[in-house]
Amino acid sequence: MIRRSVIRSTGHYLPERVVENSHFEQTLDTTDAWIRDRTGIERRHFAAEGERTSDLAIKAARAALDRAGLAANDIDAIVVATSTPDLTFPSVATMVQAGLGMTRGFAFDVQAVCAGFVFALANADGLIRSEQANRVLVIGAETFSRIMDWTDRGTCVLFGDGAGAVIIEVAEGEGTSDDRGVLATDLNSDGTLRDILYVDGGVGTTGTAGCLRMQGNLVFRHAVEKLAQTAHRVLDKAGLAPADVDWLVPHQANLRIITATANKMHLPMDKVVLTVADHGNTSAASIPLALSVADTAGRFQRGDVIVTEAIGGGLTWGSVVLRW
Ligand code: COA
Repeated sequence: MIRRSVIRSTGHYLPERVVENSHFEQTLDTTDAWIRDRTGIERRHFAAEGERTSDLAIKAARAALDRAGLAANDIDAIVVATSTPDLTFPSVATMVQAGLGMTRGFAFDVQAVCAGFVFALANADGLIRSEQANRVLVIGAETFSRIMDWTDRGTCVLFGDGAGAVIIEVAEGEGTSDDRGVLATDLNSDGTLRDILYVDGGVGTTGTAGCLRMQGNLVFRHAVEKLAQTAHRVLDKAGLAPADVDWLVPHQANLRIITATANKMHLPMDKVVLTVADHGNTSAASIPLALSVADTAGRFQRGDVIVTEAIGGGLTWGSVVLRW
């Protein structure tokens, strides 16, 4: 018998304000048609003034707790993936802990940009396997609207704000790919690629938060290659093949990247969960948002094999395969 991390529930929160592509036509040399054709994005949510990443995270966490019928003190640990924390410290995770009224356990943030949720989930699985926790709340929460250069049409039309949460808890497994829960994880980074996607500010440089800078076409090429590689590798590790996959829940950055990855895995698009049209790229929040939206719609059946994969600044990239 081995310890597995099974998903108990999901939850999400999107800020009220919805911004359609046409909004950017007023200030930038861009069109709704260009954004749809090149990215698949139609609209995104932006946080209200004063609405912080921790506010979004707490709402997503409450939704996941409610759906599971659990109280905050039933959780042993909180891991938040974010690159847009309220403050330099303390972590968003400890703010969520306080916001939920959780008076025990521990909480910390993980920063792997758009791959953050995959890294957080892999680490939370490690906490469960190593008996440091039995139940972990894993959250991806972002307010990328705070680090946009609104004059740069190559970036500001791509991102949105939001938060998603999953609760994973220990279950006994046989150690085979028939088990429920996280079956394998695959994490990667290459720090030599930092200049193609980064934020031009920070504590040790400008003393300001800075703005996101990206060489989109280079990131695009790395994404298509590396996401297919990590997805194949994680399936290999679990002893599964692409044909065993019921759902691909990819990071929602660009529909063309998602389609290319699905093609490389020989997966039909009806097995791919898509939220990019309505959410844009919400960085570390995009996968738990997509999981929660699909879960809410009743799309997953017990026993389904789900692959999540993501790539982000660093570069960082990775994947998780789990059985629902
Ligand atoms: N509206 C109109 N034109 C735009 C535009 C916009 N919003 N953004 C960029 N363009 C222009 C460029 O300026 C360029 O014009 P030029 O040829 O006159 O210089 C042209 O479109 C082509 O630019 P390019 O960057 O090669 O386009 P692309 O097809 O690669 O699409 C992205 C641009 C950003 C949509 C695409 O590269 C992408 O999605 N990259 C990955 C981004 C990503 O996923 N990042 C997050 C990873 S976590």
